[in-house]
Amino acid sequence: MERIYIFDTTLRDGEQSPGASMDVDQKYEFALQLARLGTDVIEAGFPISSPQQFKACKVISEKVKGPTIAALARAVKKDIDAANESTKDAEKRRIHTFIATSPIHMKYKLKMDPDDVVKMAVDAVKYARNLVPEVEFSPEDGTRSELQFLIRIIEKVIDAGASIINIPDTVGYTIPREFGAFIKAIIEGVPNMDKAILSVHCHNDLGLAVANSIEAIQNGARQVEVTINGIGERAGNAALEELVMALNVRKDFLPYETGIDTTQIYNTSRFLSSIIGFPIPRNKPIVGDNAFSHESGIHQDGVLKKRETYEIMTPQSVGRDASTLVLGRHSGMHGFSKRLKELGLSLEKEELDKAYKQFLEIADRKKEVFDDDLYVIVSDQLGHKTAKYVLDYFNIQSGNMAVPTATVRILEDNEKHEEAAVGDGPVDAVFNAIDRITGIKTKLLEYSVQAVTPGRKAIGEVSVSLEIDGKKFVGRGSSTDIIEASARAYVNALNRYAAFLESKEELKEAKV
Ligand code: KIV
Ligand code: ZN
Repeated sequence: MERIYIFDTTLRDGEQSPGASMDVDQKYEFALQLARLGTDVIEAGFPISSPQQFKACKVISEKVKGPTIAALARAVKKDIDAANESTKDAEKRRIHTFIATSPIHMKYKLKMDPDDVVKMAVDAVKYARNLVPEVEFSPEDGTRSELQFLIRIIEKVIDAGASIINIPDTVGYTIPREFGAFIKAIIEGVPNMDKAILSVHCHNDLGLAVANSIEAIQNGARQVEVTINGIGERAGNAALEELVMALNVRKDFLPYETGIDTTQIYNTSRFLSSIIGFPIPRNKPIVGDNAFSHESGIHQDGVLKKRETYEIMTPQSVGRDASTLVLGRHSGMHGFSKRLKELGLSLEKEELDKAYKQFLEIADRKKEVFDDDLYVIVSDQLGHKTAKYVLDYFNIQSGNMAVPTATVRILEDNEKHEEAAVGDGPVDAVFNAIDRITGIKTKLLEYSVQAVTPGRKAIGEVSVSLEIDGKKFVGRGSSTDIIEASARAYVNALNRYAAFLESKEELKEAKV
């Protein structure tokens, strides 16, 4: 079995999904989970792009042990310095530097001659290699670059010290057989390719990211860049869970192994979804609600007679036996914190106490608390830690003969503000009251409600997407009360907007 290295870029490319921003604490907690999952490399961020990104890389480098911590840098000194500085406390680290190599990017975006691009790439790799032991180089828009030019630049950056060469399908343009042949041609054409590992980074614009990555592996790639739930720029990146399970299930055809503990897949997927507020589509392979449910009578009958008739892997193999009842009010703090630990969720004392309080409230309301509820509680607490706005109180008057009216109290930087408003329905009234308090002009783009766990007393998870100042901000909130969940989701999106404004401010100060 040959080893395939899993490079997870959920915290970097994944976070580039519109609306998927995470704060430093959330990134740190998620990086701990990625380490438990067994990823070989965690790309923690793009440190030059904002002080928050820098800090996330720094905290992850200091505290997350096991995987190599990578930081992204354009092929310029100031980016490489930031990548170096932010990862200096990591156990193992890597600088990942890139420059575009396709004719269209070089001509219109970089406005540079190919020879200058080669020089810049070589200088950047040399500079980075003097700072850290491991340098990865990516020719951006690799699949639309000319093969001979790629071969030339790759040979030169390997000579300059790069030991990982990553070929990105930046715009998700390639198709499997073409990509496989391209990878083979690079491996055969670069004279010193034996001195580096070839990696691929596939985007999913045509829904082919996982297929392209597998084709590349079969043609010699030994590192794949992936994200949890396939999040990432535009249509996203290759999904870790799909790629890893394809390798696992089809070992007969794909004789490769990874370091991933597949039983951590479901946890990791749920945890990400609750942090960023992107619901997982029901039909999503491996982690969607329907991925292991059998609806038709013929299928059910078959599965009962022999599971393998309609199931190619077990739910347990991806850690999906977790949604069973685990806790109730009487589990106490000990049972609660023990289960969090088992799920790989860690909180510091103050947040743990608050989370326990929230757990007791939920246990009182619905008696049975599921693992999925615990993810919601933990991500709520992580979100609250740095929140500018906190929902303190709300009251609704509504009915089929009444004008829906809401009174809402919000803590803004710990100061109480209260307003009342009417709306088309109770949720609209709450949103209007919040708008009056914050004075922020918002446009509601999307609103969805999903039950997190089974039963009539399930926690409802609301996701909203707001347009503010022309940008999209996603928010997530949960409660056994849908109106409360909606208010929390709305406030959560406003907090992401506030964090965005703050990081813009920090960036301005940093540049001065
Ligand atoms: O898609 C891309 O080209 C990237 C590179 C920075 C690797 O994300
Ligand atoms: Zn990318």
